[in-house]
Amino acid sequence: MTRVVALAGSLSDVSRTRMALTVALQGAADHGAGTELVDLRDFDLPLCGQPDTPDVERLRAAVQDADGVLLGTPEYHGGYSGVLKNALDLMGFDEFQGKMVGLVGVSGGALGGTGPLSGLRDVCRSLHAWVVPKQATVPHAHRQFDEDGQPVDDGMARRLREVGAQVARFSALHQSPEAQSFLAAWETAYENPGA
Ligand SMILES: Cc1cc2nc3c(=O)[nH]c(=O)nc-3n(C[C@H](O)[C@H](O)[C@H](O)COP(=O)(O)O)c2cc1C
Repeated sequence: MTRVVALAGSLSDVSRTRMALTVALQGAADHGAGTELVDLRDFDLPLCGQPDTPDVERLRAAVQDADGVLLGTPEYHGGYSGVLKNALDLMGFDEFQGKMVGLVGVSGGALGGTGPLSGLRDVCRSLHAWVVPKQATVPHAHRQFDEDGQPVDDGMARRLREVGAQVARFSALHQSPEAQSFLAAWETAYENPGA
């Protein structure tokens, strides 16, 4: 079974980023994926460069075990959050190379984290991940979820689910024998003689 995990770059007790990712994970589950929200509040993580704690390995294992990853970030001062970047910096190719990644941005203001998601795309490229084309942004996040954490706007909920669905579908496709055989042929293809 395809497995999709989500990492939220907010440690707030009431986090719209986690709420948004929960909806995106539903989209992955709707397409047959096993899903898990990896809540960084449950991990005792050092800052990158400090000695690893046991929870660093636990985080790496959770992501290594996944075929696809959803990354959600609040917009902090026009960028993605340091919490998420630090978690990513504690990981690397072993966790991300060749995997599908979907992005979700959440902001207090009107932009929804569009700029930060462009930055995260660059980070994921450096991790050799495949970032799916769809992404979802949640502007004015404090108005977008009810007391139970459910989205109040159907269109926004659909866009979030679509990101999760794309990650689940491309992850499954990527593992198919046909895709694996194409990738193997790609690796051994001779150079374009016309180039
Ligand atoms: C340090 C900090 C910086 C922020 N900077 C921005 C910003 O530049 N633009 C914006 O629209 N919202 C900004 N916000 C608001 C957050 O994006 C918003 O509260 C979001 O819901 C936080 O995510 P969370 O609910 O998952 O914790 C900022 C919040 C904090 C705490």
